[in-house]
Amino acid sequence: MNGAAPLVEMKGVSREYPATPMPVRVLAEVDFSLNAGECAAIIGPSGCGKSTFLNILGTLDTPTGGEYRFNGRDTCELSANELAALRNRDIGFVFQLHHLLPQCTAVENVLVPALVATHPDEARARAVDLLGRVGLEHRIDARPGQLSGGERQRVAVVRALINRPALLLADEPTGSLNQEGAEKLADLLLELHRQEGMAVVIVTHAPAIAARFGRVLELRDGRLAARD
Ligand SMILES: Nc1ncnc2c1ncn2[C@@H]1O[C@H](COP(=O)(O)OP(=O)(O)OP(=O)(O)O)[C@@H](O)[C@H]1O
Ligand SMILES: [Mg+2]
Repeated sequence: MNGAAPLVEMKGVSREYPATPMPVRVLAEVDFSLNAGECAAIIGPSGCGKSTFLNILGTLDTPTGGEYRFNGRDTCELSANELAALRNRDIGFVFQLHHLLPQCTAVENVLVPALVATHPDEARARAVDLLGRVGLEHRIDARPGQLSGGERQRVAVVRALINRPALLLADEPTGSLNQEGAEKLADLLLELHRQEGMAVVIVTHAPAIAARFGRVLELRDGRLAARD
């Protein structure tokens, strides 16, 4: 890790989608930086570009303008293989729809990002430990179809953390949960953040959840601004 640089740094990042009569500009010269171990929450109305922003942070999408650096490295200079390795090693994703593999058990789902791990025994021990820390020690061999919505979401959070990422990206992870479930998931993300020390960027529609992550930014009209 490059100690001097922020973990992630966007400078003047834009994202346009081609459309007629003119391209749609979803992000307009967004500046954003986050140091290792910090948290931020992104709020904003539906369609304002929150997922687009998060996908660029996760290198799943590329800006059409501006610069995005991860750990001091300009991501547009990285090859597809280097980006795939960076995503697998340094970034954990939690999506609104958890995308668990239905045919695999909870612990097998958690181990998917660790399939390329050099120490499979250690990865499995960590998977079991993390599942225990989220209260699922008795459900490690259950398949997603046998788990509740909240339990599945906890498996998805654990899966995102299996490779000890420096950055956890969560796109409306509480979107399909009721208020109590959403608060519990926020508790869990913050607890794991304290224990594991990873940086977190969460997208949420719920202002009360966003406020718990300390720094709240609002995306509106393509621009990102601190919310006071
Ligand atoms: N592949 C695409 N082609 C064209 N337009 C797109 C594409 N993907 C997204 N958009 C548009 O970009 C805008 C931002 O989409 P995005 O998914 O980032 O919004 P969002 O803030 O995450 O919304 P939500 O809260 O509903 O999830 C929307 O108007 C969407 O229709
Ligand atoms: Mg979205």
